[in-house]
Amino acid sequence: MMAINKRIPLLLCLSCCFFFISPSYSDSNTLEQSRQLEDGQHLVSADETFKLGFFSPGTSKYRYLGIWYNIPGFDNKKVVWVANRNIPIFEKSGVLMIDEFGKLKISVNGGSTSIALSSVQSKNINASATPLDSGNFVIKVVDLDGSTGRILWQSFDYPTNTLLPGMKLGGRMKPDHMWSLTSWISESIPAEGSFSLTIGVIINGSSQLIIWWKRSVYWTSGVWQDGQFELVPVLSKEGQGYKNFSYISNDDEKYFTYSINGNHTLLARYMLDSRGAIEESTGLAPIGACSYKFDMGCVGQISPNCQNKNDRFELRKGFMSVQAVRFDGSYNLSLFDCEAKCWNNCSCRAYDFFINGSQTGCEIWSEETGFAEYNNGREIYFLNHFLNHSNNAKWWIWLVIAVPGSVAVLVFCFLFYFIQRRRLEEQDHENEHEMRLYELESSTTKEQKRDGKKGKELQVFSFESLASATNKFASKNTR
Ligand SMILES: *[C@@H]1O[C@H](CO)[C@@H](O)[C@H](O)[C@H]1NC(C)=O
Ligand SMILES: *[C@@H]1O[C@H](CO)[C@@H](O)[C@H](O)[C@H]1NC(C)=O
Ligand SMILES: *[C@@H]1O[C@H](CO)[C@@H](O)[C@H](O)[C@H]1NC(C)=O
Ligand SMILES: *[C@@H]1O[C@H](CO)[C@@H](O)[C@H](O)[C@H]1NC(C)=O
Ligand SMILES: *[C@@H]1O[C@H](CO)[C@@H](O)[C@H](O)[C@H]1NC(C)=O
Ligand SMILES: *[C@@H]1O[C@H](CO)[C@@H](O)[C@H](O)[C@H]1NC(C)=O
Ligand SMILES: *[C@@H]1O[C@H](CO)[C@@H](O)[C@H](O)[C@H]1NC(C)=O
Repeated sequence: MMAINKRIPLLLCLSCCFFFISPSYSDSNTLEQSRQLEDGQHLVSADETFKLGFFSPGTSKYRYLGIWYNIPGFDNKKVVWVANRNIPIFEKSGVLMIDEFGKLKISVNGGSTSIALSSVQSKNINASATPLDSGNFVIKVVDLDGSTGRILWQSFDYPTNTLLPGMKLGGRMKPDHMWSLTSWISESIPAEGSFSLTIGVIINGSSQLIIWWKRSVYWTSGVWQDGQFELVPVLSKEGQGYKNFSYISNDDEKYFTYSINGNHTLLARYMLDSRGAIEESTGLAPIGACSYKFDMGCVGQISPNCQNKNDRFELRKGFMSVQAVRFDGSYNLSLFDCEAKCWNNCSCRAYDFFINGSQTGCEIWSEETGFAEYNNGREIYFLNHFLNHSNNAKWWIWLVIAVPGSVAVLVFCFLFYFIQRRRLEEQDHENEHEMRLYELESSTTKEQKRDGKKGKELQVFSFESLASATNKFASKNTR
């Protein structure tokens, strides 16, 4: 009884807290023209598979508008679309709205800046926006009777790094439009990274998937034939079950798309990661992972002779003795670019990736650098065949510490020996002296002498240990 009574105020308090913490605006399905979606509020698809709202990826402090899987325990890599990937918002001041022209935009800092997401410009129009169960975010015209009609804009036309069933990968002639994926710079930076996935059409009409690294071909799927990709049949194989790839080619459009059988929504996405590999969520090995292993379709990854293909980079924490060579932040370099810069430069032994505001860049160190491992040091990626060298470096550091250390110990031993010897000699003299005194003095005065000698011993000892201290204070003492 007592226990229950005690719990009641606690429960009341908890529910009060919950009441205050929970947003005043409950998650809804549709954003109407007259309303605004503030940071912290969400739109949820009808079956609640997808959620739309502002978020900060990884360790980022910036805010982005995005769509993610609304599935507990699927936190890692759950974001499927980012609206403002190249224009981060600094504070939680972003507001999503549809203006009177049916244009979707993010208004920042009370309207002082705005990021247009759709470019639809027409006469006054009533529109509403809804995330669908497919993960597509669509703006539709609201007719006079309140029903929705024509699609004004959809996020599926502006993919980021993720392909979902029903999305297209390819291009359209009129009006000119491309559907492609572009990797994030890193797990915490959704900005356009170094890799993109597009389709390539060969002169005879065959098509294939191409991963580009900046402006060079990095990987190809091989041509699409008999319902599969020549070099990666696994991507479209019937045996994989639920995915049905198709290639649509006509005078106006050429694209790949796929559908799924059943409700495997979670397992259905493909993501181009920041290292240029296509990741599926099934635990299947990444496709086109040319930097991890030599995959079918990898193009032109020739390592310089100085590198062994089994060499790997290893993250370590510590301090470098030498200043790094810095590569400008304005090139939007990714972690992968920095790794490649180091890998392809035979004098490079370590690299790091840096973020300066909204810019990113690389630092690389040559073999001449010394390294001291330290838990709170900065994170640096070492080429692991350097580990032997760096162990040597560590050995040298130990030597640097150990040599003066042992010299000091030796000196101390010598000093101690001399002092001890001198003292023994003195003691002998003293003893002789004492003997003589003893002969002259009484036994009581002898006890006093002994105390006196003890005092002298202490004096010697304290002089030795205080010598440095008094030297330290010497300048102060002489003032
Ligand atoms: C748009 O349509 C909705 C639904 O019919 C209505 O509630 C809303 O007031 C309309 N907004 C404008 C600006 O006309
Ligand atoms: C087109 O060219 C590719 C590569 O040369 C070849 O593999 C494919 O069979 C050709 N397709 C047709 C329809 O001729
Ligand atoms: C695969 O998709 C294509 C195009 O959408 C469709 O025509 C075909 O029937 C589908 N096949 C299966 C087995 O679902
Ligand atoms: C998804 O499929 C599984 C098994 O195939 C079934 O148990 C589950 O109820 C389905 N979920 C939905 C939302 O249809
Ligand atoms: C770097 O990214 C910014 C914003 O995303 C873009 O404006 C700029 O052109 C990019 N610079 C290069 C060299 O690609
Ligand atoms: C960061 O970028 C700003 C301007 O883009 C530049 O002035 C500054 O020197 C950069 N800082 C570093 C550490 O590179
Ligand atoms: C190679 O690395 C060294 C430092 O290790 C650097 O000074 C040099 O500029 C780099 N060369 C290129 C082409 O990046």
